[in-house]
Amino acid sequence: MGTAQRMDREKNVVGTIYIGQDVTELKDIDEWKISMMAMMSHELKSPLHGIIGLSQAMLLDKSTAQKGSVVMISNCATRLLDVVRNLMDTSELLHRRNRPLARDPVHLAGVAEEVVLLCQQAVDKRGVSTMKPSVKIINTLVEPLPVIEADAYRCTQLLYSLVSNAIKFTHKGSVTISASADDVEEKVTVYVKDTGIGISSDNLDRIFEPFDQEDRSEKRGYEGLGMGLALCREIVHQHRGTLAVKSQKGKGSTFQFTLPYKMPVEDKAEGKGYEDDKSVSLRVPATQTRQSTNISDLSGGWSNNSAPSAPVMGRAPTLDPLAARSTSSGAERDGPSKNLAGAQYLPDVGEDSQLVVLSVDDDMINQQVMTSLLQSSQYKLQVASSFGEALNYLLENPPPALILLEVMTPGLSGPDALRTLRKKYSAEVLPIIMISANGDKDTITRPSSRVGNLSTFSA
Ligand SMILES: Nc1ncnc2c1ncn2[C@@H]1O[C@H](COP(=O)(O)OP(=O)(O)OP(=O)(O)O)[C@@H](O)[C@H]1O
Ligand SMILES: [Mg+2]
Repeated sequence: MGTAQRMDREKNVVGTIYIGQDVTELKDIDEWKISMMAMMSHELKSPLHGIIGLSQAMLLDKSTAQKGSVVMISNCATRLLDVVRNLMDTSELLHRRNRPLARDPVHLAGVAEEVVLLCQQAVDKRGVSTMKPSVKIINTLVEPLPVIEADAYRCTQLLYSLVSNAIKFTHKGSVTISASADDVEEKVTVYVKDTGIGISSDNLDRIFEPFDQEDRSEKRGYEGLGMGLALCREIVHQHRGTLAVKSQKGKGSTFQFTLPYKMPVEDKAEGKGYEDDKSVSLRVPATQTRQSTNISDLSGGWSNNSAPSAPVMGRAPTLDPLAARSTSSGAERDGPSKNLAGAQYLPDVGEDSQLVVLSVDDDMINQQVMTSLLQSSQYKLQVASSFGEALNYLLENPPPALILLEVMTPGLSGPDALRTLRKKYSAEVLPIIMISANGDKDTITRPSSRVGNLSTFSA
């Protein structure tokens, strides 16, 4: 909405002209884009899990010829899965649905340390490290800094996006991470300063839009979808913080975000946290370099993308979501116990018998992946393509050693199916693990790539 004063011939103000634009349609298109993105991402993930799972199962088979090609297939699919996950993550954040931020005590120095490690491990699409010998990473963000209340995971994601951008767009010089705290305003500001290619002032606003990049041409030489800064902006907004950039073409850029020490009280009732897997797959760290420099002295000229609120700090992105899950909370992972001997429905496991794992999932590729994974193990896979089929199996057979229950089970949702089963079978008698493609809370996430992990549950 814009306004202008209306004057008469003598230049007296006689009124105000209001100019407005109806943005309802634009907002609808935005909403549609976001939900399309979520739907597409979801549909893309299932076949990718299949490709990753099957190629990893092939690699377990020692006789597999052309191992190198299979590894490449697996790596490509994993990479694509990362893109899809990031898409889902962004669309979820933009939707701001059902997913309130966690309220973790966040040590920003720890976050910075973790981010540097992650950047050191990151590789590009050719599998080459994204670090450049000509670019020095300088992390001056050290304690003592106040511990802030924020979403630790989102904080890591935020700083990682900024630092990885700085590295990507800098060919010579340095990337410096620093911070300052304001005890009066109770805010902490983090700076990521680089000596890279810079951004022209005309483009400073649009780079924060989803899928927008300064160079839109097809010949642009940098990887990426243009999602990182949109995600950063949303994270910062949700924490009631601010995000700003100052840049000079050819000289470098400084991005800064400010987060309050405490998240606003009105959000507290909603704050439940992100316990699901939000892994950003990156190759894992080696060592970390840290050097002391002064906190950046920044003033004026900021293109400000601040808005409402703030999150983030650290759970490390992981390459193996299943492994991560097996050690974290969640999932019905009361695990097939060795104590089955006392159970009412003891499976008759003789010397030559195999323990049965009942997999409830209508996706044949998922089932095939599971079959391949369990092939050389002590488990025999029994497949049910709906919850009804699973119930029939249970009526006619002793309880299996373990049920793997897809969250989106045809016939009944995973959680409802779980509740139904629990009325009849205790966790000791019938261990159940819920699996999901989406990294939902209390599940393990596909691709489940290792039989070893299953044995953790069944030991
Ligand atoms: N430190 C920087 N120096 C120069 N340009 C930058 C910097 N950070 C961001 N940009 C510009 O802003 C654009 C948007 O950044 P953003 O992080 O959203 O996307 P991306 O890095 O291109 O892709 P993605 O983050 O999805 O991998 C970049 O494409 C680049 O043009
Ligand atoms: Mg980026």
